[in-house]
Amino acid sequence: MHNAAYAACGIDDRFVFTAAHVQPDSLADAIRGARAMGIRGITCTIPHKVSVMPLLDVIDPVANRIGAVNTVVNDAGILKGYNTDWLGVVTPLERITSLSGKHVALVGAGGAARAVAYGVVERGATLSIYNRNIEKARAVADGIGEAGSVGIHPLEDIAKVKDADVIINATSLGMGDKAHETPVPADYLRNGQIVFDAVYAPYDTRLLREAQAAGATIVHGLDMLLYQGIAQFEIYTGVTAPEDIMRSVLMNHV
Ligand SMILES: NC(=O)c1ccc[n+]([C@@H]2O[C@H](COP(=O)([O-])OP(=O)(O)OC[C@H]3O[C@@H](n4cnc5c(N)ncnc54)[C@H](OP(=O)(O)O)[C@@H]3O)[C@@H](O)[C@H]2O)c1
Repeated sequence: MHNAAYAACGIDDRFVFTAAHVQPDSLADAIRGARAMGIRGITCTIPHKVSVMPLLDVIDPVANRIGAVNTVVNDAGILKGYNTDWLGVVTPLERITSLSGKHVALVGAGGAARAVAYGVVERGATLSIYNRNIEKARAVADGIGEAGSVGIHPLEDIAKVKDADVIINATSLGMGDKAHETPVPADYLRNGQIVFDAVYAPYDTRLLREAQAAGATIVHGLDMLLYQGIAQFEIYTGVTAPEDIMRSVLMNHV
């Protein structure tokens, strides 16, 4: 999607996006190499989003609060880390509704959940976190500095999500070999809710299919992938991203 966007904006003589599989024990070398070669930007994914942070010169305050970096920009040799995952969450949600004053139920407390939690609280929602490991849910709440005002629940309490305006899945249930699973039983989904699934493969997860059947408005994980990438594109290039082109590239891979 990045390369298609460079071509569409006529900047493909200056930018090319390529992938490298970096082992954890080679991360420091990879970052040194990027400095040496003057690489403009680095997109980091699992398992490097946290471990890359001490290797950078500057961390954007939002990335610091989230505790993870997915975007590194090289400005004349100074490497600065950003997080755009939270924009991948709030941008598509706010195209449907304002999050201010809404009650968001977040299921999951891993890396993606941290970005979700920051984003929805930043936009004025009240948050409840449901996770199998309750200590990790507490750590996410502590991390965004809202420990006292965030509800923390074990997954056994999942029936309570029925009262939420927005339900967000940030667990890996529904993905890959867990495609037949869902973190929220269909009984607790209802008309009028917005249901967002961070899982993007498959495109239509079991959670989204059941939410749609219950009359909820659904947001696909592919939108999160798209909008975090759009924010990244704009940080790297300073050019407004061609959203339709980037979306169509992703949709061709569904
Ligand atoms: N759309 C996007 O752009 C985007 C971006 C990032 C991530 N994601 C997706 O978000 C999902 C989470 O990624 P992540 O990086 O946050 O992973 P992670 O840090 O490994 O967190 C995994 C989460 O899933 C929960 N979980 C795993 N297996 C479970 C099970 N059997 N029952 C209940 N809960 C279970 C974990 O609960 P415990 O804490 O109890 O172990 C934890 O909350 C993945 O599907 C990933 O593909 C999407």
